[in-house]
Amino acid sequence: MSVPVEDGTGFGLDGRDAARFADILARYPTRRSALMPTLWLIQDRDGHISDAAVSWTAAQLELSEAKVREVVSFYAMYRDRPQARHVLQVCHNISCHIMGAQPLMIHLEGKLGIRRGEATPDGEFALEGVECLGACGMGPCLQLGRHLYEHLTPEKADALVDGLRRGDPPRPDTDRDLEE
Ligand code: FES
Repeated sequence: MSVPVEDGTGFGLDGRDAARFADILARYPTRRSALMPTLWLIQDRDGHISDAAVSWTAAQLELSEAKVREVVSFYAMYRDRPQARHVLQVCHNISCHIMGAQPLMIHLEGKLGIRRGEATPDGEFALEGVECLGACGMGPCLQLGRHLYEHLTPEKADALVDGLRRGDPPRPDTDRDLEE
């Protein structure tokens, strides 16, 4: 299937990313069904989904821009603006709350020197509280991009932050690759 690299929206994919997009399209019966993995692909490359990327995605997948924006804004894992390099999203819904999400969040605030909703001055980390991540029996949970860390303790959270700073984070418990 041919993949236009740039279609006048000011956005495009090329090289390996264009090939990945073609692979995604080949897996779905209709182009519009490929919305979520296409958004993952874009965010994986750019760190967020820009307005131009929304226009490009809508044109490529034969969707309205409003539909694409709706999905980007609904799911916590998608970002519509540049953020910190590592966005730590701690689930604060009821199951994770019971299993210690609140003390975990407080610990991370202390570790990073920021409050939830803020980013570190060096742009390395942002900390967010988010709704259910769909792993309620494995709380408290933290999402980092497509990676999910489960049964978190302050020690495991420290290991994650320290590993990210070194460029050698611990393996996630679940890798949510929506391209699969
Ligand atoms: S309540 Fe935290 S993953 Fe569902």
